[in-house]
Amino acid sequence: MARENFPATMASTITDPPAKENPSPSPNDVRRRSFLKGLGVVGAALSAGSLLTGEAEAQDRSGIITVGDVAILRFLAATELIETDLWQQYNELGGIQDSEVPGGSGSRLYTKALEVLDGDMPQYIHDNTEDEMTHELFINAYLVSKGAEPVSLDPFRTLPSSQATGAQQIGRLTNLMQLSVDTTWYTRYRSRTGNPDLGDTFPQAIPSIATGQHPAIPRTDDDVQPDPSKPHHISDLTQAIANTAGFHFATIEQGGTSLYPQVAQRVTSLEVLRIVLSLGGTEICHFQTWSDKAGNSPQLSVVDPVTGSTVTFPDLNSPPFGGEDFQTNLIMPEPTAFLNRNLPACSIIRPTATKGAAMGALKAFTAGGLFIGQSPQFFKFMRTLAIEADLAVRQ
Ligand SMILES: [Fe+2]
Ligand SMILES: [Fe+2]
Repeated sequence: MARENFPATMASTITDPPAKENPSPSPNDVRRRSFLKGLGVVGAALSAGSLLTGEAEAQDRSGIITVGDVAILRFLAATELIETDLWQQYNELGGIQDSEVPGGSGSRLYTKALEVLDGDMPQYIHDNTEDEMTHELFINAYLVSKGAEPVSLDPFRTLPSSQATGAQQIGRLTNLMQLSVDTTWYTRYRSRTGNPDLGDTFPQAIPSIATGQHPAIPRTDDDVQPDPSKPHHISDLTQAIANTAGFHFATIEQGGTSLYPQVAQRVTSLEVLRIVLSLGGTEICHFQTWSDKAGNSPQLSVVDPVTGSTVTFPDLNSPPFGGEDFQTNLIMPEPTAFLNRNLPACSIIRPTATKGAAMGALKAFTAGGLFIGQSPQFFKFMRTLAIEADLAVRQ
């Protein structure tokens, strides 16, 4: 959605940054650093913790944030703009179009197919979309309030909209019609032994949508033609597209669920840490919801008439699937190895290792087909933001 569509009250918060300048280090700062250099390893660890907390608090009081914090927030702002763009497309066709999330007029049979997964899907899609809009607006407004540059991806809104009835005809940042949906989150969060941070890998829940290019929204009205032989006249093709969306929702939100704790470990200001923890928590809420709904996808197998590829949604509760790695109602994170396999298993978000987190998120978006059709300038811009965010260190 275009920024100018937001209420004036929200837009006005991102104007008039207070003029703040980074003060040069005081003699006290210099003395403190040389003092740290002189400590032994244990002493440095203990004392540095309390001193760094004191420095962060002082920095919060002074209203300045570090270059690293700005870089992390700018990358997060970009990912939130990307999330907003893709969720807006889902809402136009399968959510609730209203004053909170305007745009589009819905695709009746696509919406009905989503409701097969859960009768509340349109409401949840609407609410997830609104959440992403507020994340993006808040982070950018906060950056401006600190005198930092906000992030705009407006020059890259060049991808075509779905041609199906219900979608707005506007330029998009993301492509939801040629996705490869990584569904390893499904088995990763059910595993009681594996953790990607310890080098483990996980099988796909729905292998047939993990490779190739699959629509998660109807491309044209051909994808939502009624089939009188099916319940509610929902064709297998329309249901397959809705099922693909159901898994993609969780794929996107588990990414946010990991990204926020990953970058939180490298922010300096306590206020920025509070922002990252508070926004990241809602990504977990989203993921948990979608993790529940994806397992309700009805079994089917259909050949996509556009791509010629077969899409199969199996019974995940029966052989060769089934068991704890696939059981559909195991929607809460199973306890698993964390930090060190000698420690007891623990129910956790995974992965959370911080090294290269931003570039990892960008690569995952890209590998999923979300940016098919985007310009080299877009990738260059996003790569720069990711590199800068990954260079940030906690001070
Ligand atoms: Fe978000
Ligand atoms: Fe999200």
